[in-house]
Amino acid sequence: MRAIAEQVHLVTGATQGIGKETARALARLGARVIVTARDQARGTAVVDELRADSGNQRVELALVDFASFRSVRAFLDEVRARVDRLDVLVNNAGGYFQSRQETEDGHEMSFQVNHLGYFMTTLGLFPQLRAGGSARVVCVSSDAHWGGKVRLDDLDRTRGYAAYGAYAASKLMNLLFTVEAARRFPSTIAINGVHPGVVASGFGLGESGVIKAFYRVARPLLRTSQQGADTPVWLATAPELDGVTGKYWARRQERGMRAAARDKELARRLWEESERLTGVSLPADG
Ligand SMILES: NC(=O)c1ccc[n+]([C@@H]2O[C@H](COP(=O)([O-])OP(=O)(O)OC[C@H]3O[C@@H](n4cnc5c(N)ncnc54)[C@H](OP(=O)(O)O)[C@@H]3O)[C@@H](O)[C@H]2O)c1
Repeated sequence: MRAIAEQVHLVTGATQGIGKETARALARLGARVIVTARDQARGTAVVDELRADSGNQRVELALVDFASFRSVRAFLDEVRARVDRLDVLVNNAGGYFQSRQETEDGHEMSFQVNHLGYFMTTLGLFPQLRAGGSARVVCVSSDAHWGGKVRLDDLDRTRGYAAYGAYAASKLMNLLFTVEAARRFPSTIAINGVHPGVVASGFGLGESGVIKAFYRVARPLLRTSQQGADTPVWLATAPELDGVTGKYWARRQERGMRAAARDKELARRLWEESERLTGVSLPADG
């Protein structure tokens, strides 16, 4: 990879938590870092904070709401207009939804935000990832994927919604996508998944129920967002990882993933369905 000061990085969901700390670390290392937010004011505040903290003025904002295909398409156009090459993409934006909610596109929220968001961003920026001759994609997944089941006949979970089940399934999709993308991408684009640990971020706090209670009560025992960002930053930058792709990591160690995450047939069908739903696919010469 080229010197980090010459690299362009993109971190999604960087207003708080793991994404913000990942962006902070990458800015401190000297990369040009594009961070995403849904809200202009929150995003601008983060850019100002990271610029002041890192002394790196090349931190910029792009707005996107992953719960809207329209917004994601506009965001991808915006990024493509700004950069012709992307060295690092950290797919991080995600959430946990206590009750079943639908996006404006009619999809269940965890499916669209947590999975289709990663899918559209990565494939939509594939030409930019390929352009530099060497790029890395990091997908923030979770050990929660062990509790997930991907129902290809009901990806929007219209039958018997359970918040943890929907979240865990979306994190399993992150790994199915990572492993399948590693198969389909040229060797110049490495893509890896990561479990950041159980982190006292903003995660779960906006929800009601058990998840909020857990993240509030257990807070002192959890990893900090900075600790949660450590392995994503390492995956994005460590020279010793050149050429490593399609794997799952935690605490800078390779981690076992569920057999279902390596199910080729399931990954292929999820990929094709994601292409159909989003209208995004790899270029024919990909
Ligand atoms: N915390 C944990 O224990 C834990 C464990 C395993 C994996 N993870 C994963 O880590 C990632 C980051 O989570 P976190 O813990 O840092 O949570 P967080 O503090 O809640 O941050 C989530 C980030 O995602 C953004 N986001 C949420 N919904 C979005 C949407 N519809 N469109 C655009 N951006 C959106 C948020 O932006 P806004 O400011 O606009 O809301 C925020 O920047 C997630 O993928 C999560 O699944 C977390």
